[in-house]
This record gives sequence, structure tokens and C-alpha cells, in this order.
Amino acid sequence: MTSSTTPATDRFPVVGIIGAGQLARMMIQAAIPLGIGVRVLAEHATESAALITPNVDLGSPDDAAALRDFASRCDVVTLDHELVDLDALVAIEEAGGVVRPGATTLRYAKDKLYQRSAFQRAGLPVPDFVDAPTLDAVEAFTARHGWPVVAKSQTGGYDGRGVWVLHDLDEARALFASVADSNVALMLEQWVRIDHEIAVLVARRPGGEFVTYPAVETVQRDGICHEVIAPAPIAPEIAARARDLGEQIAALTGAVGIIATELFLVGDELLINEVATRPHNSGHFTIDGCATSQFANHLRAVLDWPLGSTDLLAPVVVMANLLGEDHASLAPRMRHALLAGAPGVHPHLYGKDVRPGRKIGHVNALGDTLDETRARAAQAAARLTGRTP
Ligand SMILES: Nc1ncnc2c1ncn2[C@@H]1O[C@H](COP(=O)(O)OP(=O)(O)O)[C@@H](O)[C@H]1O
Ligand SMILES: [Mg+2]
Repeated sequence: MTSSTTPATDRFPVVGIIGAGQLARMMIQAAIPLGIGVRVLAEHATESAALITPNVDLGSPDDAAALRDFASRCDVVTLDHELVDLDALVAIEEAGGVVRPGATTLRYAKDKLYQRSAFQRAGLPVPDFVDAPTLDAVEAFTARHGWPVVAKSQTGGYDGRGVWVLHDLDEARALFASVADSNVALMLEQWVRIDHEIAVLVARRPGGEFVTYPAVETVQRDGICHEVIAPAPIAPEIAARARDLGEQIAALTGAVGIIATELFLVGDELLINEVATRPHNSGHFTIDGCATSQFANHLRAVLDWPLGSTDLLAPVVVMANLLGEDHASLAPRMRHALLAGAPGVHPHLYGKDVRPGRKIGHVNALGDTLDETRARAAQAAARLTGRTP
């Protein structure tokens, strides 16, 4: 794609990242020691990754011309989100460009209904669901499964935006009315009584070679991930099954790079919730907690380079997300937070403006026991954000 006369083997490749949020920022951090060049396509110069590199193109991920132009300056194009025009990516692929993961894989991440249907057809365990629900369909579905039910927007949701737990027909009616004027297409699924939320990350190369990270527990509140615990405190047999499902999904979707599979553990049963075909919040613990971070393995995979070990570097690794409070900046509390956890607590800030509830960074803590490590991560996070526990 790059029109340079230098053969690709004689110079380090340039990975283009569509999107310039914190995932792109952490990919850049991982690219530096490997010699990989990175270019980002940002919508605004103030985005998290655009702040740390001069190699920024400004443009929209929905603008086919901007994407084509961006791709022409990169050897491989990857993404830090899935809110991108898939047709434009197909056009880049057809013109000989390399997009990893490709459009056929991204479609799973972009469209929850497509994903659910494909996984169900493949015989994988998913919660029961209905596409494009009407009020009649809600009544028929709740006659089978009871209340509550979960409505989800088929596309565009994240951090619990686009997920509604409905407790009766009035709530369903109100939701349907509120989305009637917008373009939000809904699906409906069975509400499940989740015992643990589990995530599995697989890094996969174009030829199918892959490595799998330890299964982790994600602790969600109001649809937002607050903590990740590695390894997940579940029976080894269940963790092995979770990893196996993640690997099956990586193969089924033809993933290249990191693919994260979110699972619900209900009793002994694992159900697949959703996938993300990129580095994922559930893998931020790998930066300090594993021999190779998810960001390094994502880059290595999309470049078709050998993958690195996913071994844990401590018996327990806990990540705590930093969610904005009312304070305008974390700066006044950084010194205090470092004192609280040192050694073994590692903050990662995203350079984003602080807004209440916004993900502005995370801390990783390494330790020997779950309770102590978790408490240390939580304490450092609370001290940094200024939250009073
Ligand atoms: N069917 C369900 N039953 C119970 N809880 C659910 C269900 N689906 C989602 N949730 C809860 O909502 C969270 C967000 O849902 P998810 O589909 O993963 O949306 P997002 O794209 O915002 O991550 C999940 O992590 C889980 O805590
Ligand atoms: Mg999710």
C-alpha cells in the first residue's frame, strides 16, 4: 500500500489505526520497543492517541475517501473501535490494501444481532434472543422466559449504552416509543442471572496460529467494567472451557489480532455475550501482568509476526478502571496514589478530559493473593480519582 520503493522487508512496517482513543494510544506504547511505525486516523486532534504522536491524519471513519487516503500511507490497517464504514474497508481490501481484522470479521463486532445469529447457527451457547422485537414478540418471549428481559441496540452500543433491562410491558412500550424516531434497531434477549462475567482474549495471526490469555473475571456495574481479575477465580475446568470457546470464536470469525470474548457464567454453564475484535478493556491487565501485552500481541498478529507468551507474571493481577469523578484533573493526587500502592501498582492514564463516569485510565496491581491485590488496586484507583470509597 505504501508507494515507497523500499521493499517492506528492509524497513519497519507502518500500522495504521482507525480511531485514536486509549486503545490506539496503548498500541503506540507497545509499538515503540518493537520498532513498528504507527499512524492514527483521528476525528479530533485532542483524542487520546493523537496527543502522543505526530503521525495523525484527521478524518472520519465513515468517510470512504479519508479511509482510502489513510490506508495508502500504511502497510497494514487496524482499528481501535468498530464504528467504521465496512463497505469502505471492503473497497480498501479489494484495491489490494491490508485491513486486519478484515471486514468479514468486523461485522461480528459491529452488529450484535448478526453475531448472535451466527454463533447460535454454529451451535455455540448464547442466551435466547429475538430480532427486531414488537410488543407482541415481547409478550411471547416473556411467556417463555419471564421478566425481566434485556433489550439491546443491534449496533453502536458500548459501556452499557444501548442495553436496557425491561421489567414489564410498560417499560418495553416506553423504550420502543423512545427509539421509534431514531435509527436504533433493537434486539431482545433473555435476562440471565449471571454469577460471574468472564472474558477470554485470543491473539490470532492470519494463518490461524494463536495464543490465548488466561480467562479473567470482569466486574461490571451499570454496564461498565470496573475491575478485571486475572486469573478468573473460577474452577480450572470452567476456565479451560471459556478459553476453548474464545478459541472457537476466533477461528469462526476469522479474527486477526486480538479478539475478546465476553461470557456469562451461570451456575456451571457458560454463555457467550459478545465479542470485540480488537484489544479490549478486559485485557489492560496484560500490560504489566503478562509476558506480552495484548497491545503488543495485537500488533504482532496484524503484522503476521510471531506471537509472544501470554504467561501471567504474578499469581494475581487486578486491573481497576479509573472513572472520572467531579474533579477536573487527576494531577493533584498522582503522588499520593503512587505512595499508596508502591511497589506493584501501575497507573495508566489516557490523557482524556475528566468527566464523571468516563474511563480516563486504569491501574494494574500485581500480587500474591486476590483480596490484598484487589484492595491495593481499588485503593490506588480511589486515591487517583478522588473517589471516597
Ligand atoms: N442477557 C443479559 N442478562 C443479564 N445481564 C446482561 C445481559 N446482557 C448484558 N447484560 C449486562 O450488561 C452489560 C453490558 O452488555 P453488553 O451486551 O456487553 O453491552 P456493551 O456493548 O455495552 O458492553 C453486560 O456486561 C452485563 O453485565
Ligand atoms: Mg460488553
